[in-house]
Amino acid sequence: MKNLVLFETLLLFCLVVSTRIVSISCLNSDGLSLLSLRKHLDKVPPELTSTWKTNSSESTPCNWFGITCDDSKKVTSLNLTGAGVSGQLGPEVGQIKSLEILDVSSNNLSGMIPSSLGNCSSLVYIDVSENRFSGKIPDTLGSLKSLADLYLYSNSLTGELPKSLFQIPALNYLHVEHNNLTGSIPQNVGEAKEILELRLFDNQFSGTIPESIGNCRKLEILYLHNNKLVGSLPASLNLLESLTDLFVANNSLSGTVRFGSTKCRKLVTLDFSYNQFEGGVPPELGNCSSLDALVIIKCNLSGTIPSSLGMLKNLTVLNLSENRLSESIPAEIGDCSSLSTLKLNNNQLGGQLPSALGKLQKLESLELFENQFSGEIPIEIWKIQSLTQLLVYKNSLTGTLPVEMTKLKNLRIVTIFNNSFSGVIPPGLGLNSNLEILDFIGNNLTGEIPPNLCHGNKLTVFNLGSNQLHGNIPASIGQCKSLSRLILRDNNLSGPLPEFSQNQDLSFLDVNSNKFEGPIPRGLGSCRKLNTINLSRNKLMGAIPPVLGNLQKLRYLNLGVNLLTGLVPPKFGNWKELTTLILSGNRFSGFVPPDRGS
Ligand SMILES: *[C@@H]1O[C@H](CO)[C@@H](O)[C@H](O)[C@H]1NC(C)=O
Ligand SMILES: *[C@@H]1O[C@H](CO)[C@@H](O)[C@H](O)[C@H]1NC(C)=O
Ligand SMILES: *[C@@H]1O[C@H](CO)[C@@H](O)[C@H](O)[C@H]1NC(C)=O
Ligand SMILES: *[C@@H]1O[C@H](CO)[C@@H](O)[C@H](O)[C@H]1NC(C)=O
Ligand SMILES: *[C@@H]1O[C@H](CO)[C@@H](O)[C@H](O)[C@H]1NC(C)=O
Ligand SMILES: *[C@@H]1O[C@H](CO)[C@@H](O)[C@H](O)[C@H]1NC(C)=O
Ligand SMILES: *[C@@H]1O[C@H](CO)[C@@H](O)[C@H](O)[C@H]1NC(C)=O
Ligand SMILES: *[C@@H]1O[C@H](CO)[C@@H](O)[C@H](O)[C@H]1NC(C)=O
Ligand SMILES: *[C@@H]1O[C@H](CO)[C@@H](O)[C@H](O)[C@H]1NC(C)=O
Ligand SMILES: *[C@@H]1O[C@H](CO)[C@@H](O)[C@H](O)[C@H]1NC(C)=O
Ligand SMILES: *[C@@H]1O[C@H](CO)[C@@H](O)[C@H](O)[C@H]1NC(C)=O
Ligand SMILES: *[C@@H]1O[C@H](CO)[C@@H](O)[C@H](O)[C@H]1NC(C)=O
Repeated sequence: MKNLVLFETLLLFCLVVSTRIVSISCLNSDGLSLLSLRKHLDKVPPELTSTWKTNSSESTPCNWFGITCDDSKKVTSLNLTGAGVSGQLGPEVGQIKSLEILDVSSNNLSGMIPSSLGNCSSLVYIDVSENRFSGKIPDTLGSLKSLADLYLYSNSLTGELPKSLFQIPALNYLHVEHNNLTGSIPQNVGEAKEILELRLFDNQFSGTIPESIGNCRKLEILYLHNNKLVGSLPASLNLLESLTDLFVANNSLSGTVRFGSTKCRKLVTLDFSYNQFEGGVPPELGNCSSLDALVIIKCNLSGTIPSSLGMLKNLTVLNLSENRLSESIPAEIGDCSSLSTLKLNNNQLGGQLPSALGKLQKLESLELFENQFSGEIPIEIWKIQSLTQLLVYKNSLTGTLPVEMTKLKNLRIVTIFNNSFSGVIPPGLGLNSNLEILDFIGNNLTGEIPPNLCHGNKLTVFNLGSNQLHGNIPASIGQCKSLSRLILRDNNLSGPLPEFSQNQDLSFLDVNSNKFEGPIPRGLGSCRKLNTINLSRNKLMGAIPPVLGNLQKLRYLNLGVNLLTGLVPPKFGNWKELTTLILSGNRFSGFVPPDRGS
C-alpha cells in the first residue's frame, strides 16, 4: 500500500514535469535496469524494440514485451522464451529485486549466467535452458530461498555443480542435463528435501552417487545417465518411495545391483544399461509392481532371470540383452501379462523356451537371438496374434515352422537364421500381406518356396540361403516391388530365374550354388540399385545381356561356373564402383577379362 502511494506521487510528479520538458524520462528503476539489460542484447524481436524504450507517458515497463508486473507495478516476470534474442544476460538483471520468474529459455544467449541473480531474492522460477550459456553455474543461486524451479539444461556450462544449490529449501526441479559439467555430485544432495526431479544426464559428472540421495524422500525422477559415475549404486536408493523413473545408464558403475524393496512400488521406468555390474538381476525387483520398463542392457550381469519378475503385471518392456545370463527362461515370465517387448538377446540362456510365454497375449516383439536355446519353439508362442517380430537367430532351435505361423497377420519380421529348423516352409505364409523381412538362412528347411509371396508388397528381405529347398522360384518373387535383398544361395533350386523387371528396389541378389538354368534375365538391367549379383555355380546358358552394363552401382558381379557362351560385351569393365568381377568357368569365346577381386 505504502509502495503504491509512493508510486502514484512519483507518477504525478513525472506528469507535471513532462508537460513542461517533453523528452524527460520518468522510468522507474526496474525500467532503467531493463534498458541496461537491453544493451547486452544483439538481436531482439521487433516487439521488444518497439516497447523497451523511454516513453514520456510511461513510468513503468509493465507494458513492455515479455514483462509482467504485480499490483505495485514492480516487475515480477521477465519472459523472453523463444523470442529469438541473442547476446548476453547482463548483470543488471540482479537489480530487478521483485523478479519472481526469469524465463529466457530457447534463445541464443551466450556468456555467463550472471551471479547477480543471487540478489533477486524473490525468484521462484529460473529457466535459461536451450541457449549457449557457458562458464560455471553461479554459487550465488544457492541463496535464493524461494527458488523452486531451476532449468539450466542444454547450454555449454562447465565446472562443478555448486553445493549451495542443494541448500535451497524450496527446490523442486533441478534440470542441468546436456551441459559439460564435471566433478562429483555434491555429497549434500540429500539436503534437498523438497526435490522432485534431479536431471543430471548428458554431462561429465564423475565420482560416486552420494549415499545421502536417500534423504531426498520426495524424489520422483532421477536421471543420471550418460556421465562418468563410478562405484556402486547406493543402497539408500531403496528408500526413495516416490521414485517413478530411475536412469543410471551409460556410466561406469560397478558392484552388485542392490535395488528393489517394498518401497519401489511407484517405480515405472528403470534403466541401468551400459555399466559394469557384477552378480545377477536382483529378485527384489519383483516388488516394484508399477514397473512398465525394466532395461538392463550390457551390464555384465550373470546368473538366472529371477522368477519374481513374473509378479510385474504392468511390465511392457523387459530388456536384459547383452549380459551373461544363463539357464532357461523361467515360466513365470509368462505371467507378465502386459509385456509387449521381451528382449533377452546375446546372453548364455538355453534350454527349451517355456510354453508359458504363449500367455503373453500382448507380446509384439520377441527377441532371443544369440543364445543357446534348443528344442522347438512351443506352438503356444506361434499362436500369439499380436506378434510382429520374432528374432531368434543364432540359437540351436529345431522343429518345423508350423502352419499357425501363417495365421499371424501382424507378423512383419521373422529372423530365424543359423538354427536347425527343418521341414517345409508353410505354403500359406505368402498370403500374409505384412511381411517385411524373412531371414531363414542356415537351417535345414526342405520343400519348395511358398507361392503368393509379396502379397502386401512390403517384403524387402527374403533370405532362404543355405537350406535344402528345391523346385522353381515362384513367379510372385518377380513381382515383388519392394524387394531389396534376395538370397537363395546353396539350395537345390532349379528352373529359370524370374525376369526381375519389376524389382526396382533390388540391390542384392545371390542365388549361387543351385541348379538354375536358362538365360541371365535381361530385366536385371532395369534394377538400377543392384550392387551385388551372384549367379555363380548354376547351369545358366546364353550370352551376358549387354543391359547389365547399365548398372552404375554394381560392385560385385559373379557369373562364374555356368554354361554361358558368346562374346563378352565390350562395355564390360566400365562400372565405376566394381571391385569384383568373376566370369571364369564358362564357355565364352574371344577375350574374357580375368577374374578380379574375390
Ligand atoms: C508510449 O506508451 C503508451 C502507453 O503504453 C503507448 O500507447 C504509446 O504508443 C507509446 N509511445 C511510443 C512512442 O512508443
Ligand atoms: C513464458 O511465456 C510463454 C508464452 O510466451 C509461456 O508459454 C510460458 O509458460 C511462460 N513462462 C513462464 C515461466 O511463465
Ligand atoms: C547466435 O549468436 C551468434 C553470435 O553471438 C551468431 O553468430 C549466430 O548466428 C546466432 N545464431 C542464431 C540462430 O541466431
Ligand atoms: C547484490 O547487491 C549488493 C547490494 O546492492 C551488491 O553489493 C552486490 O554486488 C550484489 N551482488 C551481486 C552478485 O551482484
Ligand atoms: C562439451 O565439450 C566438448 C569438448 O570440449 C565439446 O565438443 C562439446 O560440444 C561440449 N558439449 C556441450 C553440450 O557444450
Ligand atoms: C555414453 O556416453 C557418451 C558420453 O559420455 C556418449 O558419447 C555415448 O553416446 C553414450 N552412449 C549411449 C549408449 O548412450
Ligand atoms: C564381468 O564380471 C566378471 C565377474 O563376475 C569379471 O571377472 C569380469 O571382469 C567382468 N567384465 C567386465 C567387462 O566388467
Ligand atoms: C520385497 O522387498 C522385501 C524387503 O526388501 C524383501 O524382503 C522381499 O524379498 C522382496 N520381495 C521380492 C519378491 O523380492
Ligand atoms: C497397472 O496399470 C493399470 C492401468 O494403467 C493401473 O490402473 C494400475 O494401477 C497399475 N498397477 C500398478 C501396480 O501400478
Ligand atoms: C533393448 O536392447 C537392445 C539391444 O539388444 C537395444 O538395441 C534396444 O534399443 C533396447 N530396447 C528397449 C526398448 O529398451
Ligand atoms: C551361420 O553359421 C555359419 C556356420 O554354420 C557361419 O559360417 C555363418 O557365418 C553364420 N552366419 C551368421 C550370420 O552368423
Ligand atoms: C541338417 O541336417 C543334417 C542331417 O540331419 C545335419 O547333418 C546338419 O547338421 C543339419 N544342419 C543344420 C544347419 O541344422
